Amino acid sequence: MYDNSRILFDRATKVIPGGVNSPVRFFKPFPFFAASSSGSKVTSSDHVTYVDYCMGYGSLLLGHANDEIIEAVKSQLSNGSLYCIPTEKEVILGEMFAKLVPACEMTRIVNSGMEATMNAIRLARAFTRQNKVIKFEGCYHGAQDYTMVNSDTSGNSSPSSSGIPNEFSSETIVLPFNDTVQLEEVIRKRNDISCVILEPVPANMGLVIPDKEYLNFLRKITLEKDIVLIFDEVVTGFRLATGGASEFFGIRPDIVTFSKSVANGFSLASICGSRELLELLSPSGDVYQASTYAGNPVAVTAAIATISALSRGRDQIYPRMTRICDSLTDGIKEVAHERKIPCRINSISSMYQLFFTTRDVRDLASARASDLDMFTMLFRTLLEKGVFIPPSQFETCFLSYAHADEDIDKTIEAYDYAFSLMRPNK
Ligand SMILES: Cc1ncc(COP(=O)(O)O)c(C=O)c1O
Repeated sequence: MYDNSRILFDRATKVIPGGVNSPVRFFKPFPFFAASSSGSKVTSSDHVTYVDYCMGYGSLLLGHANDEIIEAVKSQLSNGSLYCIPTEKEVILGEMFAKLVPACEMTRIVNSGMEATMNAIRLARAFTRQNKVIKFEGCYHGAQDYTMVNSDTSGNSSPSSSGIPNEFSSETIVLPFNDTVQLEEVIRKRNDISCVILEPVPANMGLVIPDKEYLNFLRKITLEKDIVLIFDEVVTGFRLATGGASEFFGIRPDIVTFSKSVANGFSLASICGSRELLELLSPSGDVYQASTYAGNPVAVTAAIATISALSRGRDQIYPRMTRICDSLTDGIKEVAHERKIPCRINSISSMYQLFFTTRDVRDLASARASDLDMFTMLFRTLLEKGVFIPPSQFETCFLSYAHADEDIDKTIEAYDYAFSLMRPNK
């Protein structure tokens, strides 16, 4: 069934480290290789078609190969793919962000989520003239040195990857998510914090739902202490609402970073915020930030087409995705209950994740209580049944506007089959 992928993986390991260009794409014994995709589905080089819940790790909100986006991009391609000179389309995109994103007066376009968060932190440091960064356990902000940080039980930070100097990670304080007491204790006693960065809805420890009061408190205390609040909305931006989590929860951070759903699978990210903050970026200010491919007309065209489609269809698109996601998670809960499989499902809007645990999952520690062997078994069985979810427990499953009721029925059946093979620990 996987012969072509096996051959490709053997070739890949000779020229690509670990055979993949991003580590999360690897799973044992080897990943399937993609050949094409359309709507809610991806087809492998082995000619197997899967219902996709990875969806470019949340990028493909309007589905794979969406006609409107592809047509817009095609029409740009014949006019050139890179000018490195400003274009009207960049202005249009900046105007769209300013109109839709509550905290946004100005936008700097970059290429990836990591670039956006790294520069957002630089901006916050320049603005506050302080260095320390607060981040939360289990929140991911890209493979950059300042946020790839772990914390031990005494609160000491250390790099979470080799190759990062201790001096870098010592500038970052790591706190548990959804814990107001620890947050307040740390913030009140210090005066050297430049920013707090978080995923308002963490999607990189599985899916965790924030307490609304926690987000409100975070906004209140950062305002009191003149700390820059950065919402990393690389996942939630345009997915929870056109104004992202800020609109969804009614909270106005100082800086918001976007990527993924903004351009429906094309490489574009952005740093949005007030004029006062954003004008610190060079050339208007002295915070240096630059990139050859930033604002390239292909990605910008994809972003304009995506945001136009989302704004125009918001009254249908968001309620429909929520309805489909709810019927999927309700169906999975029902079959899990019938099969006596202890589990918890967190879901919001068009995102969900299942944990094999009896405790509520509200931070990294509770996510880690999930039975990872059962998750691996679930992943493999779903794959056999033609359903592709992200291979790690610490990722999130994403639906798109292209997912249909028949995908949901097939997926619930596949979960049911997987549960039927499991013997839960008593
Ligand atoms: C919340 C969040 N921030 C930042 C990033 C980094 O984005 P990129 O992979 O485009 O660098 C990711 C990637 O998954 C993410 O989920």
